[in-house]
Amino acid sequence: MCGIFGYANYNVEKTRGQIIENLVEGLSKLEYRGYDSTGIGIDGEHEFGHSAVKAIQLYKQVGKVASLKDEIKSQNPDTAEVLPNHVGIAHTRWATHGGVSQANCHPQPSGDANEFIVVHNGIITNYRELKTLLKTKGYTFSSDTDTEIIAKLFKYCYEEDTEMEFYQLTKKVLYQLQGSYGLMVKSVYYPNEVIATRKGSPLLIGVKSHQKLKVDFVDVEFINENNEVTFSSNAEVSIRRSESRAVLPDSNVPIEYFISSDASSVIEHTKKVIFLEDDDIAHLDCGELHIHRARKSAGLSSTRRVQTLEMELGEIMKGGYDHFMMKEIFEQPDSTFNTMRGRVDFKNKTVTLGGIKDYLNSIRRSRRFQMIACGTSYHSCLAVRSLFEELTGVPVSVDLASDFLDRSPPIFRDDTIIFVSQSGETADSMQCLKYCRAAGALTVGVVNSVGSSISRDTDCGVHINAGPEIGVASTKAYTSQYIALVMIALQISNHVITTAARHREIIEGLSEIPKKIEKVLKQAEFIKQISEKYIHGRESMLIVGRGYQHASALEGALKIKEISYIHAEGVQAGELKHGVLALVDENLPIVAFATQDSFSPKMNSAVQQITARDGRPIIICTEGDKMLDRTKASAMIELLPETIQIDQET
Ligand code: UD1
Ligand code: F6R
Repeated sequence: MCGIFGYANYNVEKTRGQIIENLVEGLSKLEYRGYDSTGIGIDGEHEFGHSAVKAIQLYKQVGKVASLKDEIKSQNPDTAEVLPNHVGIAHTRWATHGGVSQANCHPQPSGDANEFIVVHNGIITNYRELKTLLKTKGYTFSSDTDTEIIAKLFKYCYEEDTEMEFYQLTKKVLYQLQGSYGLMVKSVYYPNEVIATRKGSPLLIGVKSHQKLKVDFVDVEFINENNEVTFSSNAEVSIRRSESRAVLPDSNVPIEYFISSDASSVIEHTKKVIFLEDDDIAHLDCGELHIHRARKSAGLSSTRRVQTLEMELGEIMKGGYDHFMMKEIFEQPDSTFNTMRGRVDFKNKTVTLGGIKDYLNSIRRSRRFQMIACGTSYHSCLAVRSLFEELTGVPVSVDLASDFLDRSPPIFRDDTIIFVSQSGETADSMQCLKYCRAAGALTVGVVNSVGSSISRDTDCGVHINAGPEIGVASTKAYTSQYIALVMIALQISNHVITTAARHREIIEGLSEIPKKIEKVLKQAEFIKQISEKYIHGRESMLIVGRGYQHASALEGALKIKEISYIHAEGVQAGELKHGVLALVDENLPIVAFATQDSFSPKMNSAVQQITARDGRPIIICTEGDKMLDRTKASAMIELLPETIQIDQET
């Protein structure tokens, strides 16, 4: 995920070298979030035009922070010059808008002269419209990013009225933007000033002062009906203050600010931080911090507290969870939404996948689809297979990459082979890709890491945009892969009139997924208690499911093996009677997926087979289910809110 870092020093003597080091170090603290390129923007050595102001110098590089260091070194900046008042901004980029390239690295400039530079986390959803508008005004674009539009919009609005203060200009720009953002902006027209603003993307400001802070909050500056600045949003408040209660005794006090999207890069410098709220515009101007509002919103506090961070670095990186894996599991309401963002039009119930659009005719000509993957990614293929077949009317084979290699089966030129991989680097999948390319088949990737080998070497594909997975066990990638594959099936079949109603129904279902996952995750504590009571300390367990829940059973068993070191077997419920039942007794923990779908009667019968042998399953069922016999279950987990059914018999 992208990361923002900014460093501002006022009345604190720092050399350019120290400033660069601070910025680069800040970025390295964000490395754990995953990224593929980096960049910083600082005051350079030469003047901007004929002014006394320094021009802005950008350093950018694809790859790791170490590559950025090499890039800066190769440009040999004057590291000795002392800059007592200075603002620098920096960014780690995880490519989603535009591939991994130097041109797409942030900071993005407003033009060749770097009048405005911007670092940005998030997605601007109306960037196409803004780009078209700016093109009509003569602007040209040198990156594929949505961020470049923001930088150019700053320049455009500035040129309309050069008298505005930086925060006023920002308000004007933000008014045009739709989507989510954490932004920092620096400009030659506002030397030693910087803007930090957010909407739906976190941003915080660390304050480091050598003198004690006068107050532990910052007043928000509002504009009242007479266009005057006030310090209360509430017109009824009787005592109106006309002056902000400054954090510092006076503006000559040495002070440093560390602005970041993530507390992990701030904590080593200071524990005093201010968390910005959505629509806050923080304006650092000659050492003073002012907070303005992008738009009026009722009910918000009129101060921002200076809080003391008590967390240790490791804790911050895990976002308050004990493990990255937990963090990633709980990220799923967001990650699943991000997979669909900008691709599913929920209003008109359509799907557009830019990554496969141009290949649709070839894909539709295929007489069979082959999915290839390993581990969790393989399970997501199994989970989606029936829906894929239903929508496309084309048979789908799913293979483990290693088994596919062992068999080296015949592949034809009109086959479409879909490679599913979180990392995009898995060796077995890569080898299969080479094999299928050599056979002349069309290859499609479904990959999380932009710029990875599979993403690069496939003919086309879809990035799942789930954000990096740091936990060793794959979690959020599974749900995003599933959604990406559903979107592909919808896109392939969107020309078939007879499936139109079904399409609308599925898209409706997709729109509800993030909220439903949120609801499921609320049951975490309850599920933990059940696990402690019935499974903890056991050596082996079964997980049973059928239909699309067969994949859930296999994936569940894989996770339990990897994380709990308990032998777990995922079983297709129809196979119980063909041997597996021999293992079932009152001691073997069994989890049964018995959600309401077209297989419910068959699953009910599987549960009966288990209980007849004194098995006491933990049943995962649809909320409010009245059909299941609960009397012999050890526990019921009613956590799957009803979603649209995948009818495997059509
Ligand atoms: C792409 C851009 C996005 C831009 C959008 C609209 C990237 C990474 N994404 O998103 O910034 O906003 O267009 O113009 O540049 N690909 C493969 N194999 C894979 C995965 C992807 O070949 O395994 C290819 C796709 O065919 C496509 C490119 O990579 O050419 C980007 O894929 P994806 O990010 O999914 O496309 P969009 O969502 O359209
Ligand atoms: C399981 C897990 C692995 C991966 C597998 C494929 O939790 O993480 O089974 O799913 O190694 O990796 P990718 O998806 O990166 O190809």
